[in-house]
Amino acid sequence: MTERKGWMELESPDEVVEAICVLFRDRGDAMYDEAVSQSVHGVQAAMWGAREGAPTSLRLAALLHDIGHLLERDPSGGADHPEHDLHHEDLAARFLANWFGPDVTEPIRHHVAAKRYLVSVDPGYLGTLSPASVHSLGLQGGPMSPDEAEAFIALPGAADAVWLRRWDDLAKDSSAPTPAFDEFADLISAHCVMRDRARSGEDSARR
Ligand SMILES: [Fe+2]
Repeated sequence: MTERKGWMELESPDEVVEAICVLFRDRGDAMYDEAVSQSVHGVQAAMWGAREGAPTSLRLAALLHDIGHLLERDPSGGADHPEHDLHHEDLAARFLANWFGPDVTEPIRHHVAAKRYLVSVDPGYLGTLSPASVHSLGLQGGPMSPDEAEAFIALPGAADAVWLRRWDDLAKDSSAPTPAFDEFADLISAHCVMRDRARSGEDSARR
């Protein structure tokens, strides 16, 4: 069974897709916040990407942007919750880089910093955040300075991360009809590539 293999033992894109679907099946029912589960949150973020005409790689980034929470020891942890601010975005980006390109991983890596960026450059943005998200903003470093914001938006994937962040903020609608996570298997598959591990010594560090 695929789910019995370690992540680094997966041998094909089909196995990777299945393992990700199993992860969301097993742990995706944990609540993202008081309104929606992790799976619903990811699917709604991907749907916002589709609605706004984003490329499929960015829709996939939206779908998987909080996978770091599912990989952490406590799968019940909600995003933007102070005690769970464990740099889930870095964990997710490093993990997904085993099978996906930077067009998927970098927007995910930067989606938390994108909140600090948006607070800095968009005067109305802070007022749209939930109380928990405002609280975690302080833990995450607070608003970026103008110099920080300028440096941030020049990073690869940062502009896409800003889009992802806005969908992240919207993907909390408990009344919206939301497809099952598994229905996005083809989207995951379309961007999944097995790395050539023989040429890299990084795998052992990523176990
Ligand atoms: Fe999120």
